[in-house]
Amino acid sequence: MVDVKNCKMTKWPSSVLLERAEPIEEIGEDIRALAEKMKDIMVEFKGVGLAGPQAGVGLRIFVASQDGTKENAKVYINPEITPSGSVVTNEEGCLSLPGIYGNIHRSSKCSIKALDLDGKEFSENGEGLLARIFQHECDHLEGTLIKDKFSTVAKIGARRKLKQLQEEYDSENE
Ligand code: NI
Repeated sequence: MVDVKNCKMTKWPSSVLLERAEPIEEIGEDIRALAEKMKDIMVEFKGVGLAGPQAGVGLRIFVASQDGTKENAKVYINPEITPSGSVVTNEEGCLSLPGIYGNIHRSSKCSIKALDLDGKEFSENGEGLLARIFQHECDHLEGTLIKDKFSTVAKIGARRKLKQLQEEYDSENE
């Protein structure tokens, strides 16, 4: 059972963000409550997507909303992604790495297969921003963050902010 009450915005370097998330075996009340909570966190922090590990839960689930609204937020459980199209480069940020931005290469399109909250499989095609959100959130489920994909120059640029986040984490976990 997921302890949804204790779910909160989780920032780097929390270990849950660095590990591969586990598949969801059964979609019960706790997963439905988790999805609801994840939408709320995403909206509160003004994101367009949020993955389970970012709420502190190492499960394969993410929510996405291109316009950042709760009513347009959709839930993807155990997603399988197939990127296609050309490679496009755009600046990205991440709610788990506040204040850190950098260029990331992504596929311009992708298709995604996932389960909804009723356990029904569905497929969707993403382009543009949506394709980017899908790839970013699926990276989270593998324990991969944007900073891992930065160029050497962007990595150097992010150093100070990362050090700050590390210090915040250390002081909160003393
Ligand atoms: Ni992110």
